[in-house]
This record gives sequence, C-alpha cells and structure tokens, in this order.
Amino acid sequence: MSSYYITTPIYYVNARPHLGHAYTTFVADALKRFHLLAGEEARMLTGTDEHGDKIVKAAAAAGQSPQEFVDGISGEFQALWPRLGIEHDQFIRTTDPAHKASVQALLQRIYDKGDIYFGEYGGHYCFGCERFYTEKELENGLCPQHQTKPEYISEKNYFFKMSRYQGWLKRHILDHPDFIRPERYRNEVLAMLDGGVLEDLCISRPKTRLTWGIELPFDRDYVCYVWFDALANYISALGWPDGEGDPGGLYARFWPGEHLVAKDILKPHGVFWPTILKAADLPVYGHLNVHGYWLVRDTKMSKSLGNVVDPLKAAEYFGLDAFRYFLLREMHFGSDASFSDESVTTRINADLANDLGNLFSRVLSMNGKYFDGKIPPLGNPEEDDDVLAELTGSAALNYVQLFRQVRFSQALEALWEPIRAMNKYVDAQAPWSLFKEGNTERLSTVMRTLLEAMYKVARLLWPVMPGASAAMQEQLGRPLRAEAFRPDALDDLLQCRVHLRSGVEIARASNLFPRLETPAAPARPGKAKPHKEVKAAPAQAESAQAADVADAKAPIEFADFQKLDLRVGTILKAERHPHADRLLRLDVDLGEDKPRQIVSGIAAFFEPESLAGKQVVVVANLPPRTLRGLESQGMILSAEWADGLALLTAPAPNGARVN
Ligand code: MSP
Repeated sequence: MSSYYITTPIYYVNARPHLGHAYTTFVADALKRFHLLAGEEARMLTGTDEHGDKIVKAAAAAGQSPQEFVDGISGEFQALWPRLGIEHDQFIRTTDPAHKASVQALLQRIYDKGDIYFGEYGGHYCFGCERFYTEKELENGLCPQHQTKPEYISEKNYFFKMSRYQGWLKRHILDHPDFIRPERYRNEVLAMLDGGVLEDLCISRPKTRLTWGIELPFDRDYVCYVWFDALANYISALGWPDGEGDPGGLYARFWPGEHLVAKDILKPHGVFWPTILKAADLPVYGHLNVHGYWLVRDTKMSKSLGNVVDPLKAAEYFGLDAFRYFLLREMHFGSDASFSDESVTTRINADLANDLGNLFSRVLSMNGKYFDGKIPPLGNPEEDDDVLAELTGSAALNYVQLFRQVRFSQALEALWEPIRAMNKYVDAQAPWSLFKEGNTERLSTVMRTLLEAMYKVARLLWPVMPGASAAMQEQLGRPLRAEAFRPDALDDLLQCRVHLRSGVEIARASNLFPRLETPAAPARPGKAKPHKEVKAAPAQAESAQAADVADAKAPIEFADFQKLDLRVGTILKAERHPHADRLLRLDVDLGEDKPRQIVSGIAAFFEPESLAGKQVVVVANLPPRTLRGLESQGMILSAEWADGLALLTAPAPNGARVN
C-alpha cells in the first residue's frame, strides 16, 4: 500500500487560531482524506511552534511563564481542530521531550559532518519573524512582513553552511518541476538561489539573550534557532532518528512526505529545510505546496483592524461543510483570496443550496413519489443518459487529477459541470411528464441515471465536505463504509457506471444546504444572526446581521474591562497615510499636553477632510505601535458592519473618561 504524509506549519502560540490557520489545516485534512479515498495509507501532522524570543515576549506581556503561556494557546489549537472536523493523526509541540531529542540529533549529525561552524555575525533581526534579514530583503529598511524596523544584532553564533548546498538545491528544483508548487513560488525560490551566494544560516542564540529553546548538544551556552527547531518537527514527529533503520516505523513508512504552507514562510521551507535535510543525508520532501493569503475584504487580517475571522464562529454560522467548501473553492491555490460574508453567502447559495442541494432534494422527492423511495432499475439507457454518465465520468477523472495537483478550486469547478448538467437533464427529461404518461420504463432509467451520477459526485466530495458527503451517500442508500477506502475503490468508482443496487430503499427528502440570507439585505430589528457581533456598538445592534464573522471573544472579568482607559477626544487633523491606502493619520486632542498621533484603518470609509472636528472615543492606554512606519499612540473605536463603519462618539469634553 502506498503511503502519504501531509503536514501543516506548526503555528506560533503567540496568536489565537484564525481563518488563515484554519484554511491550511482544512486543506491538509482534505488532502489526507483524498489520499485515503485513493486507497492509500495517509497521515496528517499539525502542531504548535513554542520556542523563541517572540513567545517569551508574549508570555511576559500576559504575565505568565513561557511554559504556562504556551500550554494555554497550544491547548486552544488542540481543542479547535476536532471541532472543525479535522482528523489529524498527530499534534506535535516543539516543547515535547521527544522533539527536543530529535532536534539535538539532527544538529549533532550536521555538526559531525562539518557543516556547522562557530563565527561572528551582525545582521538585521526581526523579532516578529524570528529571523535575520539581508539588506536586500528589507523594504525601505523595514521588515517586509511586519513593516517594522529590525534590530541590528551582532554576536558570536553557530552557522549552518547552507551555501554549500545552493547548487544542489537549484539542480533539484530544476530536475523536479513540481517540487515547489504552484510555479510562481518555484520561480521565487529559484530567484533566491540565483541572487548570489546564499548566506550561511545562523542556527543558534546565546543563552545570555535567550534561554527558551533547545540546547545545542555541542555547546550548552547556546540554544537552537527557532526555525531550525521548528522545521525539524516534520521528521521528529515520525520518531526520527529512532525509526530510521526500522522499516515498520513511522519514519520509514511516511518519509518523505509533503508540506503545506502559505507564501509567508516560503524561504524557510524552500531553502533552509531542503538544505538541512541534504546536509543530514536525509531524503528531501516530495512537494512544498504554497498557498496565498486570505484577506478580509481585500485587507490583511490584523488584530488592530479588528477584522480577524474566527473560524469556529464562521463554521457554526455557515455550516462546517459549506464553509470548508467555500474556502477550497474560492481560493485559487497559490493566489490571495478575499473573505467576506457576502462572498461566502453568494457562493454557498449558488453552488450548494441551488445546484447541489436542490438536485438532491428534487431527485429524492421525485423518486419517493414515483418509486416509493426505492432505487429503480437502469433499464435501457438512451443517448442523453449516456452523455450525462460520460460527462460525470470525465469530470470525476479531471477532479481527481486536479486534486492531486493541489488545484482544489479547479477540481471543484470541474465537478460542478455534471451537477449543473444533472439539473438541466431533470428539466429536459421532465420525469413528472413521464410519470403522468405512465412511461415507467423510461422514468426508471432517467431516475437511476441521476442517482448513479449523484452517488459518484457525493463520494468524491468527501475530502472537501466529509459530513455532507457521508449524508448524501447515506441518502442514496449506500452509506460510506471501510470498503470505500480499499486500494482499488477509487478506480472502481471512476470507471464503473453503476454503484447502487436496485430495490434498495433511499431517502425521500433532502435538505443539505439551507439557503442563507444575503448579508447585504436590509437588516430587520430583532433578526440579528446569533454568531455576529458589531464591535463596541450596541446602538448598531440591528445591523448585526450585516457584520463580519469577526473578533470572537471569550467572556472576560470585569477587572479586565477596567484595565481599559477609554477617553473622549476630538480629531484636529486627518490625512492619508503616506505608505498605506487603508490607513489615515490623525491628530487627536485628548485634553493632554499635546495631541496624540493615531493611525487608524478607516481610510476606506472617510475622506480625511470630513473628520476634522469629530468627537471620538479612544483606547488611550495601549502601548504605542508602528503602523507602516508611523507611530500610533492609541486606537479609535468604531462599529463596523457589512457595508459601513461608524465612529463611536460621546458629547463630552476632551479627556472625559468613558466607563
Ligand atoms: N511557526 C511558523 C511555522 C513553522 S513551520 C516549521 C509560523 N507560524 S504562524 O503561526 O505564523 O503560521 C503561519 C501559517 O499560518 C501560514 O504559512 C499559513 O499556513 C497560515 N496563515 C496565517 N495567516 C494566513 C492568512 N491570512 N491566509 C492564509 N494562511 C495564513 O509561521
């Protein structure tokens, strides 16, 4: 039996799980299920990345020890995945003792080979990314990911001779066209390798600066660089090095596997990791699958903009399967995609409620009426029936090929061709007329042709919508069982036209995907959808159904609320941010010695000139934050809904406290 191993990035525990993490993890789950359906032994790994400066800082800010802190957020990730229907086989934490031992073994092996040396280095270090940037990589001197100024750090450290494997890596990528895919990211990595000699990778941090990490086995005064530690999770999870010589062990069975990441971490996965593996004389991974970013209405998700989408709330509201379908269908793997309530609702209503759900509902209810809910015999198919069966067969084949190439959106598009064709076939064959005419033989062939095509589609959808797929198969009288995962089962499904048994009783009704109310529709008071919140604006509550699935918040103690210093202020001046279309720069008078500069993501909603003189409510005790190069000394409160945003205001003197 062939085997398949898929991994997600291990997520940092300094942020709570959001839509971006959920997307990658859904895709990994879908890929694992797809390979199970193809009769393979499939394994999925996810987990949390828990060492490094960033975590120490976040723990300190939360008033916890690093261990307490990482246990808390890692626990949130662990609790979330099952609730989203994700069936990973293993959850790894970089603080697991077995992982630590594996990282040390990897370091030792490369050190013994002579590919790790001690040297001095000065460079631009971004704490957000936990890595050094070269001058060339910085944008106007700022980190390209965080738009913050990196710190210049110079110290003695251990280095991995990455440059030694540059030529090998380039050849490997050229010889294996889909080693990194889609192609644009392959080209990006090739460009990194063509841009001059690779700098050697600094793989240690002195304990004088950081102790929260894995000790180097050859120098106890140093801990391992967090990226080296993190990348090793993909093999430490398989028991490496212990299982290396054991053909029955996880490592021998599942390595090399393939990885799933977004474009933000292309370099560590496309350059650091394969060269580390090569230096350790280990086989490199099979594919690096790189996807784009989920934006929320074309804007990057960020806590400060308050537009972070909570995947659990979204799944609860849209339905888990429908939400998964949307994510896989909407994002062209490799490119960015935009999330909004409207885009999800439109897609779900069109593809699921109208096309697929409606097909199941009408065919099953007709079959209930015409054949007392039993599967009728196929009889003698005519040309129209053959055309539908062939279209379904070829679309199924396309779907499978595209899925293997991680082109999920195109795969689903291919599968929707027969679904739409089935609806047209129903209209053209008009079973109700055949019934009226008493043409039972033809009616039987038409209904059976439909039921068979529906079954094929239902089973193929299992990786994307496991719950709905199982329900559809059950409705069609052939529930999903272990036999569907036999090595020959997928070929059988693709090649054969008949899978159902005549006379078997099937469902007489189906309501798989209820239509969703369009969020842009005018809101009616009292009809607010339960999962949605409007930020800090009870007065806007009747518009709640138009707000985004954002900002899920757990209950807090009153004492926590009291920590907020909310003040009334007046905007003295507003102008566009010189480097960011979405941001405005404001001078706000809070009754202090001098006005505060506040950078706010409200440019899409207001002309700057219209804001001077407006009274606003400001969170006045946030630490200053640099947004695209400008320091923001507070945050303006607003209420946002589907198609608007209002600033919170209070008719009170500047500096008045809001309780
Ligand atoms: N800890 C490192 C990864 C180490 S892997 C050896 C890390 N963690 S992270 O928490 O920042 O996760 C980054 C990953 O989260 C992205 O590569 C992607 O999988 C997912 N996403 C985070 N935000 C995203 C979007 N807005 N859109 C899509 N996915 C994104 O980097």
